[in-house]
Amino acid sequence: MVEHIRLGVNVDHVATLRNARGGVHPDPVEAARLAAAAGADGITAHLREDRRHIRDVDMRGLKDVGLPLNFEMAATDEMLAIASDILPHACCLVPEKRQELTTEGGLAVHAGMNHLKPYVARLQEQGIRVSLFVDPDIREVEAARMVGADIVELHAGPYTKATGAERQRELERIRKAVALARRLGLECHAGHGLNFETVEAVAAIPGVVELNIGHFIIGEAIFLGLEPVIRRMRALMDAGRRSIA
Ligand code: PXP
Repeated sequence: MVEHIRLGVNVDHVATLRNARGGVHPDPVEAARLAAAAGADGITAHLREDRRHIRDVDMRGLKDVGLPLNFEMAATDEMLAIASDILPHACCLVPEKRQELTTEGGLAVHAGMNHLKPYVARLQEQGIRVSLFVDPDIREVEAARMVGADIVELHAGPYTKATGAERQRELERIRKAVALARRLGLECHAGHGLNFETVEAVAAIPGVVELNIGHFIIGEAIFLGLEPVIRRMRALMDAGRRSIA
């Protein structure tokens, strides 16, 4: 039997649109409810230091939707305090820079082990699973294991941006990182930049158990509606999974 692959829907950009007019519409919590009805397995949201999209109150609302909540955050004391209050199912630690448009690269886990280790431990003490967003790099995956993470979320951005042979090379990097993570006992997720064209090949990698997808789903929902987009993404992920011999 092929293992089910989970779809985590990132609702950050529903909040981006809401914030453009300063009101309450469209509501990311309502989007999360619709995503749940359409077959999402989890909800992901990134509470950034500058609150450019998701706000603290959204996080509380998202926790009540009833699906596992993956709280993306920087490893800071402020975010640790908020996560400790909300108690999401999982926290995904990401690097964060004020100037960036979106998360640009994976966490520097190897270089930042001393900083990250206590955050991983404090979250886990409260029953929160901890994921680290890392580049598909052997050294970073090994470092994730060393700081005690439960999960690595592999940065799929370079794969999704590449074309032709370069895309295949990036996919191979992800495959190798997944194989290593599994040998080390880490659960494997992937995300960033995935769309209808790129999702199937990642879903076809044995051992990837969750994909977190936001920008494309919310953007495409303008044309097709949120529910049809999620259903189609789900179908492509399932097709990728079934292709595993
Ligand atoms: N995973 C992580 C760790 C992210 O930071 C993001 C973007 O917030 C995503 C997944 C989703 O990426 P995208 O919005 O490009 O689908």
